[in-house]
Order: sequence, then structure tokens, then C-alpha cells
Amino acid sequence: MSQKILIHRDEIIVRVAELGREITAYYNGEPLTVVALLNGGIFFAADLIRNIHGSDVRVDSFAASSYENDTSTGKLTIRGQLKLPVENRHVLLVDDILDTGKTLETTMAYFRSLGAASVRSCVFLKKMLDPSKPPRTVNVNWYGFEVPDLYVIGYGLDSRESFRNLPDVCVITQEE
Ligand code: IMP
Ligand code: MG
Repeated sequence: MSQKILIHRDEIIVRVAELGREITAYYNGEPLTVVALLNGGIFFAADLIRNIHGSDVRVDSFAASSYENDTSTGKLTIRGQLKLPVENRHVLLVDDILDTGKTLETTMAYFRSLGAASVRSCVFLKKMLDPSKPPRTVNVNWYGFEVPDLYVIGYGLDSRESFRNLPDVCVITQEE
């Protein structure tokens, strides 16, 4: 098995800084809680948060899944709770990749139920959906890069929990 770089670390740095500027301008100093979705979102979140400026930016993390045995249940199973109250604060959820969107959709609904002033999302990668697949019922507010419908690893993205530590986004290729 070998890996081919799809997005180089240098491109990531430039794009994350750009997203940080857009998000900073958007919230314009309003109280903001950035929530990193574990585990995949922490790499992107750590870089992004250092590019978001404001005097009331808080950071928290959350772990949940809406899947059971690879099937979306629509019911959120929480594995790691928030530490900070989000009532009346703007919440920005940060995740690694938007695939079907089920996890993000269910998580956003949960944060709305906690009384957040607003719930928005920023994902590092947005997968191009194959037209044969059902359309997504959630959209993201910001994303770093759009990628083809391939399995990608690195910069937080795993394959069976490995490869999150790769500094570039890669595609696994078979060795000839
Ligand atoms: P969704 O609910 O289908 O959008 O699931 C998104 C989650 O699936 C992400 O947070 C990832 O953990 C995982 N995922 C989807 N596509 C990939 C991929 O290409 N590489 C690694 N993980 C992926
Ligand atoms: Mg994940």
C-alpha cells in the first residue's frame, strides 16, 4: 500500500488562514464557542482556531456519532460531553469531512436544543457527492477544500484509526 498526496501541507496552511480571516470577519467580535468534533476534527480545529481572532473566543470539544453498524440511526450517541455551557453563545462546529452529512446534521440539531444563539459549521473537506447517492439534507457554512468521492486520510482523517498523523491529505493507492 502506498499513499499519494492530494492536498499538500503548504496548501492547507494558506487555506486555513483564509478561512480564519473569513470566520473572524463574519462573527465580528461576538461571543463565539468553537467546538472541535473528536477525533478527526482536532487537527483542523487547532490550526483554524489560531486564525480566528476576537476577545471572546472559547474552545471546547464534543464526540458523538449518529451511526450504528454503518447505518445512520438519526439518533445521536454522545461519547464525549461538552465542558462549557453554550446557551446564548454562537457555536461553530469544526469537523474533518462532510460525507453523507448525517453526523453533522444530528449534532447541529443537538446544539440548537441546548439554546445556542446560532449553530454554524466549518469542515476541512467536503466530498463531491456521487449523483447516484441521495442528496445531503445539511449544508456547511465554510469548508476548506472540495475533494472527489475517494477515501482520504491524513490531517486528522483516519483509516481504521491510523494515519491521522499524516501532515498532508493523501489517497491510498495500490502498489503495482
Ligand atoms: P457523515 O455523517 O457521513 O458525513 O460522516 C462523516 C464522518 O465519516 C467523518 O467525520 C469521518 O470520520 C468519516 N469519513 C467519511 N469519509 C471519510 C474519508 O474519506 N476518510 C476518512 N474518514 C471519512
Ligand atoms: Mg470522524
